[in-house]
Amino acid sequence: MLNLLFFRGKKIFITGHTGFKGSWLTYILYLSGAKLVGYSLKPKNSYDNFYLFKLNQKIKNYFGDVRDEKNLRNAIIKFKPDIIFHLAAQPLVKESYKDPKFTFVTNIMGTMNILEIARESKNVKSVVIITSDKCYKNFEKKSGYSEFDELGGQDPYSASKAAAENIFYSYQKSYFDAKTDIGLVSARAGNVIGGGDWSKDRIIPDFIKSIIKKKIFSIRSPNSTRPWQHVFDLINGYLILSKKSYGTNKYNGSWNFGPDKNHLTVKYLISELSKIMHIKKQLKIKKDKKVKETGLLSLKIHKSKRLLKWRPKLSYLRTLKLTAEWYQCFIYDKKNIERLTRRQIKDFFYD
Ligand SMILES: NC(=O)c1ccc[n+]([C@@H]2O[C@H](COP(=O)([O-])OP(=O)(O)OC[C@H]3O[C@@H](n4cnc5c(N)ncnc54)[C@H](O)[C@@H]3O)[C@@H](O)[C@H]2O)c1
Repeated sequence: MLNLLFFRGKKIFITGHTGFKGSWLTYILYLSGAKLVGYSLKPKNSYDNFYLFKLNQKIKNYFGDVRDEKNLRNAIIKFKPDIIFHLAAQPLVKESYKDPKFTFVTNIMGTMNILEIARESKNVKSVVIITSDKCYKNFEKKSGYSEFDELGGQDPYSASKAAAENIFYSYQKSYFDAKTDIGLVSARAGNVIGGGDWSKDRIIPDFIKSIIKKKIFSIRSPNSTRPWQHVFDLINGYLILSKKSYGTNKYNGSWNFGPDKNHLTVKYLISELSKIMHIKKQLKIKKDKKVKETGLLSLKIHKSKRLLKWRPKLSYLRTLKLTAEWYQCFIYDKKNIERLTRRQIKDFFYD
């Protein structure tokens, strides 16, 4: 089990800390005693985790753009971090069709700016770049994709993450592999669930919003199978990766994180979640012809299990229960949401 004591007192710079995954990562590291600086665009909603977890009061925040290299560089140089986690991105496929340029520039140049700044830094000991399972060229391969499979994406989001991985690889081989005192790693995962995700066109946020608004819930691709993973299992992977790669190039490269067997159809996921939350809801199937949905995209996780000793801890039921519990508390007992969040973190990371 990962010992979070490693992070106590470490200076950690996180991009994308106002988002879903970044806010959980930031709060978990805050509770471990790390010194944190976050750099992101402003949160979109007043009820985002960033405010619910009171991160605005707990850490130093920059509301800045990762495309702005000068501003990003100044923030990093001023802080002199030991570790950088780069999560900031435009992460939605549908949005990437609407605004491909913002998606490409943010996801590609944002990553390149971080790599450039880290390349020149004398302090940084580990850089963790978050990409996606969508960086793989999807041949609908049932056995899943390993870190050595071909990259490529059809939609702008997937293509941007494949491009970010290519740039990452070039920086790794051209500059970072020769440095013995800094680790450069990328993490690939997908279909992450957990409390406080309100993104558009993601299945659980859409379902929860339909409960809050008392509306019929429409499913676009009921039979699509996805490997669902709780945000804790994934963040555990990011943290192990940053710890292992700290001050060494031995772990340089890309790493897959995914569940062992939480492969469920969208329809099954929603019916299980409804049962757990005691919600009787009318479901409607509504196919979106404009967006081409890819079939099963799962990851092989042998490398992370063998070399990082990471493994997913949560079954699909536990994953859904933690998610349901969080949203129920949000809907019916919001004043206690930070307490519940801390308890969930403690149960997973400290037991
Ligand atoms: N959630 C998932 O299922 C999933 C799956 C695969 C990969 N990812 C990747 O994980 C990372 C985090 O995703 P998330 O789900 O938390 O997304 P999110 O939309 O909740 O958060 C995105 C974060 O990036 C920041 N950001 C966006 N554009 C920016 C810009 N130009 N400059 C500065 N900050 C910017 C936002 O302010 C926010 O803090 C992304 O890199 C995403 O591609 C997420």
